[in-house]
Amino acid sequence: GVSAKIAPSMLSSDFANLASEARRMLDCGADWLHMDIMDGHFVPNLTLGAPVIKSLGKHTKAYLDCHLMVTNPLDYVEPLGDAGASGFTFHVEVTRENWPELVKKIKSKGMRPGVALRPGTPIEEVYPLVEGENPVEMVLVMTVEPGFGGQKFMPEMMEKVRVLRAKFPSLDIEVDGGLGPSTIDTAASAGANCIVAGSSVFGSPEPAQVILHMRKSVED
Ligand code: DX5
Ligand code: ZN
Repeated sequence: GVSAKIAPSMLSSDFANLASEARRMLDCGADWLHMDIMDGHFVPNLTLGAPVIKSLGKHTKAYLDCHLMVTNPLDYVEPLGDAGASGFTFHVEVTRENWPELVKKIKSKGMRPGVALRPGTPIEEVYPLVEGENPVEMVLVMTVEPGFGGQKFMPEMMEKVRVLRAKFPSLDIEVDGGLGPSTIDTAASAGANCIVAGSSVFGSPEPAQVILHMRKSVED
C-alpha cells in the first residue's frame, strides 16, 4: 500500500528564515518539505533554485520534494542533484518526447523522479511516463493553476486522481493547491497519499494539528 506523506509548501514560509521554518514544520510532524521552483516563464512568478536548496540542505536532512515549474527542467537536474534535492517533479507539458532522457538523468543524480500536470492537462498524458521501462515514481495532480499559493482547491481534479489510483494501486499520487482541513477528505478518498499544503499549514496557529488532521484523513 501507499503511505501518507504530508508536505508543507515552503512557498508559504518566511523565506528570510527558511531553515527555522523548515525545522518548525518537521517538529510539527511534516514528512517532506515541498519546494516550489519557478522560472518566471512556465509560470509568472520567480521563487528559488539550487543555491537555496543547497543552503537549506545544510540545516536539515529532510526529504526535499522539489516541484519544477520551469520550461527547461533538464537544465535543473545536475544543479539540483548536486544541491541535495530528494525528489524532482517536472511538468509533463514541457517534456514532450524527451522525458526518457530526463527521467534517466534524474535517477542518475540520485533523485526520485515525478511528473506533474496542470489542471487543463488530461491525465492520459502521464500514462506513458508511469508505464514505461524507466518509470517516474510519483504523479503530481495540480489542484490549482501553478504559480501562487493561497488559491482555491479544484474538486473537479479528483476524477484524475480516481482513475490514476484505480490504474496504479501502489503509485505515489500527490495533490498540490488549496489543500487543508476542509478539502483533505475529498482528496484522500479519491486516492491521493502525498499532500502538499502551504497556506493552510503556515496560516494556522496550530500547524501540528493541521498536519495530523491531514495524515489521519489519508490513513483512514
Ligand atoms: C502552486 C504551488 C503550491 C502552492 C500551494 O504553484 O505549486 O505548492 O505553494 O499553496 P497552497 O496550499 O496555499 O495552495
Ligand atoms: Zn508545488
